[in-house]
Amino acid sequence: MASQITKAVIPAAGLGTRFLPATKAMPKEMLPVVDKPAIQYVVEEAVAAGLRDVLMITGRNKGALENHFDRVGELEAMLERKGDSARLEKVNFSSDLAEVHYLRQGAPLGLGHAVLRAHMHVGEEPFAVLLGDDLIDERDALLSRMLEVQQERNASVIALLEVDPSNAHLYGIATVQPTDHEDIVQVTGLVEKPAEGTQPSNLAIIGRYVLRPEIFGVLERTKPGQGGEIQLTDALQELASDVSIAGGVYGLVFRGRRYDTGDRLDYIKAIVQLAVDRKDLGPELRPWLKEFSRGLD
Ligand code: UTP
Repeated sequence: MASQITKAVIPAAGLGTRFLPATKAMPKEMLPVVDKPAIQYVVEEAVAAGLRDVLMITGRNKGALENHFDRVGELEAMLERKGDSARLEKVNFSSDLAEVHYLRQGAPLGLGHAVLRAHMHVGEEPFAVLLGDDLIDERDALLSRMLEVQQERNASVIALLEVDPSNAHLYGIATVQPTDHEDIVQVTGLVEKPAEGTQPSNLAIIGRYVLRPEIFGVLERTKPGQGGEIQLTDALQELASDVSIAGGVYGLVFRGRRYDTGDRLDYIKAIVQLAVDRKDLGPELRPWLKEFSRGLD
């Protein structure tokens, strides 16, 4: 059963303070992961799941994002003159990938606020939200499976990942109940960044959501929460607590490969993990890494 959903929303208006000064003049979603900006992996993932209508919520440095998904005449002409068709193909690929729309958030009042800005573009239909700092390995089709679950259950669906209890305070954490499917849980409660040791489970929200449009009405009345920001997690908590509002919230427990690029250390790990698997870089990188690690104690 193919999903009816066509729209993906990618919030990319955060201040990216953990990456300063790299993010002073550039959104963190433009940081390169090997040789592509993080945001391109995310757009490719949306397109692979059948979502070609992409709305990016942008902040003060939107220029770099818009340019990346636009044509660059000079560069194309130069590569054509040189007969460098392989690079030309790579350059054109990002421009032709999807129908990308841009909307300014206005002020970075939180992820919930960024998602609310998408209301007019999305209208009254379910849609996907993908965060640019969570990369999901293209071999693990998380989003397609979430779209299926949304269709089957007619509810909102979030991606959950089992994390080490010592890291639970860094995430939104879910309280869940099992369903008849091993990888699907019913979410009965959500809490954003619980104080250490108080988390209701080790299931953390990662940056993929398939939401029913009722989330917009809830976001409109959601007050600033954790960190003074309007939290998507708080609005989802309201949907989860009352299945009569919009069918409740289900969690898809993801056991595939996810790379966190929002944090400096995890960003470095993500680049190494992705590069060792690449055909063009892996064969040389692997032996070098082994040699390098022998020199560490
Ligand atoms: P983060 O909290 O990870 O992003 O938001 P941040 O605030 O930019 O990062 P740090 O902590 O200062 O380094 C998760 C996602 O939500 C977007 C971000 O761009 C990121 O993709 N976001 C966050 C917005 O679009 N608007 C906001 O007001 C806040």
